[in-house]
Amino acid sequence: MTTEAIPQLEGHSDAALEKAFGALIEEVRTSAAKLENAGAHEAFRLEWLGRRQGRLKAISDAWLKSAPAEAKKSIGQRFNQLKEQIDLALASESSVDANALLAERLDITLPGTHCGVGIEHPLIRTMNEMVGVFQALGYSVGVGPEVETDYYNFESLNFPPNHPARDTQDTLVVAHQDKKPLRDRLLMRTHTSPVQIRTMEQQPPPLRIVIPGKVHRNDESDATHSPIFHQIEGLCVDTNITFSDLKGTLDHAMKAFFGSSVKTRFFPSFFPFTEPSADVQISCIFCGGKGCRKCKHSGWIELLGCGMVDPNVFGFVQQKQPGYDPKKISGFAFGMGVERIAMMKYGVSDIGQFYSGDVRFLGQFA
Ligand code: DAH
Repeated sequence: MTTEAIPQLEGHSDAALEKAFGALIEEVRTSAAKLENAGAHEAFRLEWLGRRQGRLKAISDAWLKSAPAEAKKSIGQRFNQLKEQIDLALASESSVDANALLAERLDITLPGTHCGVGIEHPLIRTMNEMVGVFQALGYSVGVGPEVETDYYNFESLNFPPNHPARDTQDTLVVAHQDKKPLRDRLLMRTHTSPVQIRTMEQQPPPLRIVIPGKVHRNDESDATHSPIFHQIEGLCVDTNITFSDLKGTLDHAMKAFFGSSVKTRFFPSFFPFTEPSADVQISCIFCGGKGCRKCKHSGWIELLGCGMVDPNVFGFVQQKQPGYDPKKISGFAFGMGVERIAMMKYGVSDIGQFYSGDVRFLGQFA
C-alpha cells in the first residue's frame, strides 16, 4: 500500500474531512465484519496498521503531516477516530480467533505439566524429628533472637569477660558499639544456650524446654564445618533433678531417634554453664559398635554436650526470677548440632550439600 492508494483530500473544510474519513471508517466496518479466520484477521491488521506500508501510516503521511496548521487539530481527531475503529475491529476479532485457535491446538493426548510437591529440607526434618522426641516427653519448644547481647550469649552463661572459653566461640559482632557497656554489645549468637536464660527469666520453675535454632561462628568452611549452622538446646529444671535424669533422658532420646539398639556413654567434659559437664557418645550406627572408618575404629561417635546447670547460671537468672534458687532446685541441659546428626543419619559426607539448594541432592529426601 502506498500513498497513491490514498485519495486526494478535497480541501480542509469540515465537510470535506467528514466525507473523506467517513468513507474510510465505513470501509473499516464492512471489512471487519467479513473477517472469518486468523489469516484474514492478520491481513486486515497489516493492511491498516502495517508499520511501513499500512494505510494508516499512508494517511498520516498524506493528510496529516502536510496539512495547514489550522486544520491539523481537526484532522488529528478524525484520524484518532479511524484508528479506534480499527483497534475495535481487531479486539473483537482477536478473542474469537484466540478461542478458535485454542480449539484447534488443544491436544488432550499430551502429558500434563508436572508440578513437583515440595518436601521438608533434611535439616528442618531432622530438627522437627528431634524436637518431636522431646515433645513426647513433655518438653515445650522455645525460640530466641539470633542477634544476641554479650550478656545472654556469654556472661549469664558463666563465661566472664576475657575468659578463655570465649575463644572457642568467636563470632561476628555488630560494629560501632564501643560506647556501650560490654554486656549490652550485640553479636551473632554462637549457640542456642542464651535462650535457656531468656526462658528461665520469663518462666518460674519447673521448666522443660527444647530450643531449635540457627547459630554463627568464626569457623572456616570445610566438609564438616560451616560458619552458620543449627543447634537444638534442651533444659530441664525442677526439684531433685539429678545426673541420672539427664542420662536416662538422653539415652531414651538417642534410642528414639537412631533406633533402640543404640547405646550411649558419657565422658567428662567442660562447659562454663554446666557442672559437672559431659560429652555424650553413641555406639556407631554404621557398624553397631564393632569399629569402622566412620567411627575411626572406636565403635563410638561423639554427638552432643550436656551437664548439670551450674549454680552460677541460676544466680544470674535469680536477678529476674527468684524461683531459681540453686538450694531448692536443680536442672540439666544439653546441646547438639543438627547438621552433625543429619549427616550421620542420612550418610551425608559434605555439610555444604545442605546449603547448596541442589534439587538433585534434596530430591533424595522426598
Ligand atoms: N552450647 C554448647 C556449644 O555450643 C553446647 C552445649 C553443651 C549446650 C552443654 C548445653 C550443654 O546446654 O549443657 O558448644
